[in-house]
Amino acid sequence: MNGQPTLKTSRLELRPFCSNDIALVAELANDEQLSLNLRSFGFPYTVDDARQWIQTLEKEWENGQSTVFGVCVRETEDKREPTLVGATLVGAIGIVLDRQSNRGELGYWIGRSYWGQGIATEAGKSILDFAFGQLCLNKLTAECLTRNPASSRVLEKLGMVQEGFFAKHFRKRESDDYCDVQAFGLLRRAWNERK
Ligand SMILES: CC(C)(COP(=O)(O)OP(=O)(O)OC[C@H]1O[C@@H](n2cnc3c(N)ncnc32)[C@H](O)[C@@H]1OP(=O)(O)O)[C@@H](O)C(=O)NCCC(=O)NCCS
Repeated sequence: MNGQPTLKTSRLELRPFCSNDIALVAELANDEQLSLNLRSFGFPYTVDDARQWIQTLEKEWENGQSTVFGVCVRETEDKREPTLVGATLVGAIGIVLDRQSNRGELGYWIGRSYWGQGIATEAGKSILDFAFGQLCLNKLTAECLTRNPASSRVLEKLGMVQEGFFAKHFRKRESDDYCDVQAFGLLRRAWNERK
């Protein structure tokens, strides 16, 4: 595949991760409350974990396995003077691709101090447009633990519909924590109709 693009929304820039992000990813992701509802990240989350994760992303994009973006909040010097001076990395959003079925599974996390500002939803809308518009996927799915109402609300706001429920479906690491899961989906047809 060609290089992974950068996507822009009114407040955000979604861009590929790079090695300069390692320390900040480790800082943002080393949070027990954040990792509690994530399948991929454990706690504690170290600089080595962040390095390993970021290193795999470029290869996965090149191999067509996934597309993952750093979610950055664009900063302006002065609110009245919208001159772009930089963008702060606050989280991640991405899609694991299944090219055989032309389908992708959405996942995301936002650093705790940035929760509740609509960032995941804004990033999600942009990545839906990318997935259906540029990657030409036929379907997006997402799985969310039932104990995570903030995430299921994000998926609802993105127009995804609940397609299923799986009891005690996911086990958090080696623990006794077997979690119920809600499965969401959105078809390209429905996304087109909504646009
Ligand atoms: C889930 C997560 C990405 C949401 O990010 P965010 O930027 O705060 O999301 P948004 O602000 O776009 O939307 C959150 C919505 O959930 C709602 N919400 C938050 N906590 C809630 C709760 N306990 N119960 C019900 N709704 C809740 C908010 O009110 C908001 O909805 P609204 O706009 O209708 O008011 C963030 O909490 C996170 O990173 N959590 C840890 C990782 C994770 O769970 N990832 C998803 C795995 S499936």
